[in-house]
Amino acid sequence: MAKLTKSAKEVRGRKMLAVRLKDGRYHSSSSNRWLERQLNDPYVAEAKERGYRSRAAFKLIQLNEKYKFLAKNKVIVDLGCAPGGWSQIAASYLKGTGCLVGLDILPTEPLSGATFVCQDFTADGATEKLLELLHGERADVVMSDMAANTTGHQQTDHLRTIGLVEAAYEFAKTVLAENGVFIAKVFQGGAEGELLSDMKQHFKKVSHYKPDASRDKSPETYVVALSFKG
Ligand SMILES: C[S@@+](CC[C@H](N)C(=O)[O-])C[C@H]1O[C@@H](n2cnc3c(N)ncnc32)[C@H](O)[C@@H]1O
Repeated sequence: MAKLTKSAKEVRGRKMLAVRLKDGRYHSSSSNRWLERQLNDPYVAEAKERGYRSRAAFKLIQLNEKYKFLAKNKVIVDLGCAPGGWSQIAASYLKGTGCLVGLDILPTEPLSGATFVCQDFTADGATEKLLELLHGERADVVMSDMAANTTGHQQTDHLRTIGLVEAAYEFAKTVLAENGVFIAKVFQGGAEGELLSDMKQHFKKVSHYKPDASRDKSPETYVVALSFKG
């Protein structure tokens, strides 16, 4: 089920009836705009049809189509896992093998083949809890789709998200196995400065990729670090 049998182009080209909402029908024009976007988004429709918990699932499918890091027997950590779209895709590759541990500040509905922790990743004890659930195993993949709630102030949002990426990266370095993969959502120009140069020292290949399912208007992209040197 995890293979994207339809190409991204086909999903995008999915025939949708354009829905326009009348102003004032819902609470605010911003929630109206959000609803309108959801109703007109082919990835939302496709996710619903396939039973994915989020349209974000397609981002992981497309990241994996490009970099091929999901497979049976892998040990995978999913940071910012709620509502569980990425975990669904990861679990469909694991097919009951390996290990999948997810963490989110929000609760995630149970999923067969995954263990979820409901905790703030930046709070004391979060990384220890994840390590405990990995039972001493090193991870093959640490993936973070964490995004701080936006404040509307671009610089603050950028700094808060970078804080989460840095925390995820520090954790990845302590837990990844040799040749492991680190993937994280980043905003604006992507991973920059010291963070990027540190990644280049510890991984054989570091690049950025914006999957088709990531909205054109969104400043998000993903940093993908391959082959951890250990
Ligand atoms: C874009 S959503 C993730 C969607 C998910 N990958 C999926 O496929 O369903 C971002 C998530 O990051 C989580 N998050 C934000 N800050 C966090 C933190 N400090 N600790 C843990 N999770 C956090 C949010 O609660 C949210 O669920």
